[in-house]
This record gives sequence, structure tokens and C-alpha cells, in this order.
Amino acid sequence: MPKAFFDYADRGSYAEETLRANRDDLQQIKFRQRILVDVSNAIFRPPSSGTRIAAADPGADRTVRHATRRWRDPCLSRRARRRHSLYAEHDVDLLDRDVAANVDKPFWFQLYVMKDRGFIKALIERAIAAKCSALVLTVDLQVIGQRHQDIKNGMTVPPEWSVSKFFDFASKPGWVSGVLRGKRRTFGNLVGHLKGTDDITALGTWISTQFDTTLNWKDVAWIRSIWPGKLILKGILDVEDAEEAVKTGAQALVVSNHGGRQLDGAPSSIEVLPEIVDAVGSQMEIMFDGGVRSGQDVMRALALGAKSCMIGRAYIHGLGAFGGPGVAKAIDIIANELNVTMGLCGVNTIAEIDDHVLAI
Ligand SMILES: Cc1cc2nc3c(=O)[nH]c(=O)nc-3n(C[C@H](O)[C@H](O)[C@H](O)COP(=O)(O)O)c2cc1C
Repeated sequence: MPKAFFDYADRGSYAEETLRANRDDLQQIKFRQRILVDVSNAIFRPPSSGTRIAAADPGADRTVRHATRRWRDPCLSRRARRRHSLYAEHDVDLLDRDVAANVDKPFWFQLYVMKDRGFIKALIERAIAAKCSALVLTVDLQVIGQRHQDIKNGMTVPPEWSVSKFFDFASKPGWVSGVLRGKRRTFGNLVGHLKGTDDITALGTWISTQFDTTLNWKDVAWIRSIWPGKLILKGILDVEDAEEAVKTGAQALVVSNHGGRQLDGAPSSIEVLPEIVDAVGSQMEIMFDGGVRSGQDVMRALALGAKSCMIGRAYIHGLGAFGGPGVAKAIDIIANELNVTMGLCGVNTIAEIDDHVLAI
């Protein structure tokens, strides 16, 4: 894919200190190797052999749905681009007829609260009608962290074109033709609800004016009052905020710094995980993301009290490289690494994983 798009996904905000810290801090956590423990009950799963690796599919967000089919609770982003689009952590027109009709298990819906509250309410009503099993409310994006690389690459609203960007795209004819052949190059959940949503630039402009700096806990209470199902607050990094989150009646929170794409200089997610688990872990389900690239990283987060992990770039890299099968492959690799790591740490089940597996 063109470098501009790769960088959009891969890079972080400002000096990328938090982006780096997410990885560095995870890697510093060492395991206790245990020997001669019967781990025959560990759920060792061989990598899915014979997975066909298709050529990279530039319009591939649909294929993520297939890739995540085997997994619990795939999550659909508010901004999913196409009908049928499912992201491993992340959109709702999609919700009613299209995705709901095509997904054979409960799926989550991820939402940002935007200025147009009527639109947000309509999205939530559709999420209810589509029987989404959870609403993931992302709460760390009321202002947007600046990503220098996007500016350099002209990934701005509206996009800027330069000679180097032209050559960047011209050198990826397969990707460009795939995108041009794609049926839809806009955001499915916004289509039909906003004027001019078939124009990606107009859409980008609309989105960029919709982030709401007034957002506060009362808005979460409002969402809670109109969403009857499981509510997950994503983007919490501070104990005081976690304690506030408990009061909202949300069932879960995600310890997350948006993959180092928002507040640069914020701690890594793994650094704050234990204190948040200590403070509210008995009252809420604690989930984790930020820097997870391997099963070892999943094990580290579980050992420090997370109940589950989410991945961003790890599956996006798989998608970029090999399309839908690449997403499945990325998830298989991580699952397999987790199983092997469990075995080498003398652990048979996920439930047994706690800080005893760590050499700290
Ligand atoms: C390209 C890209 C797009 C993202 N879009 C969203 C989004 O729409 N909503 C959201 O809550 N988080 C979004 N995130 C953040 C991820 O949900 C997640 O918090 C982060 O990627 C985790 O870090 P990791 O990439 O190191 O796994 C995005 C991340 C990336 C890399």
C-alpha cells in the first residue's frame, strides 16, 4: 500500500514517546520459566495449516469479518468503510441489514460521541435493533493528537497532493486499482444520514468538525440511559477516571492510550494497568490494549490483571500484507504464541495466569 496509508496506521502522535513506551514497557516484563509441570491440559492449538494467503486486498475491511468469525465478539467501528465491514476492535448502517445479516455471532459496536447527538442517538438505536452485544464508547478522542507523519504525507483534511505522494501512489498500481474497483469508498454507517457522504473529502471535513470538546461524564450517563446492553468505556489511563467510570454503570473499561496516537507523553498502557486493576478490578471488567504484538504480550497483560486484550496494528499489519487471511493468520500466530508461553511458564489455563508467571 502507499506509504501514506501505512504510516497513518503505524505511526503515533508528536514525538511518539507513548507509542514507543507501549512496546518498550511490555518487553521489559520477563516471565518465570517453569519446568517439569504437566501442561498437557494447556490448550495448545496448532497454527491453522493450509491457510491460503491471498494477494493484499486494498478494500479488505470486509474480509476482516471472515477472519474474525471464529473469534468471540468481533467489534465494528463507527467508521467502518464498507457494508459488511468489521474490524477486530472497531462501525452501524452496516448494522441493520447488512452486517447483522452476515454475522453469525454477537458483535460489538464502537462509537465516538460527536457533536451531532441526534445522529449518535440514531446510531445507538440501530445498534440496539441489530442486537449488538456491547457498545464500546471510545472516550479518549475529544481532541485529536497531531500525527506529524500524516502532515508530512499530506494525510490531511482535505488531502494534500505533492509530487512525492503522486509517485508513492503510482508505485502501488495493484493497491490503487483495487481501491478504484471497490464498490464503496466511503463510510457505510454515515451513508444516507448525511448530505454528500459519497464524497470522501466532504465526509472527512464533516468528521473533523464533529469532535466535541465539551464531552464529559454527563454524556456518558446519557449514553448509559439510552443503551441497555453491555457498555465498555475505551481509553482510560488514570485511576481517578477509572473510579469515575465505575459510577457510570459501565460494565467494563479498556485501559488504552489509543495506541500512542493521542496524548504523547502519557504512560504506556501496561504501566498503568496494575494500579487500575487494583482500584476498580473487583467492580469492572478490565480490558487492555496498546503495543500488543504477540502472545507473550497478551500473557503479560493477563498476568497484570487484564481480563482480555485488544489488538490494533497487529491485525492491521496482517490485513495490509495478506488481506482477510492475513488477519486470521495474525490472530492465529498470537494465539499460538500465547499457548506456547503458557506451557513454558507451567500454566494450563487462562484462569491460572496471574503475576506468579512473572519474574518481577
Ligand atoms: C489505523 C488505526 C485506526 C484506529 N481507529 C480507531 C477507532 O476508530 N476507534 C477506536 O476506538 N480506536 C481506534 N484506534 C485505536 C485502536 O483501537 C487501539 O486502541 C490501538 O490501536 C491499540 O494499540 P496497538 O495498535 O498497539 O495494538 C485505531 C488505531 C489505528 C492504528
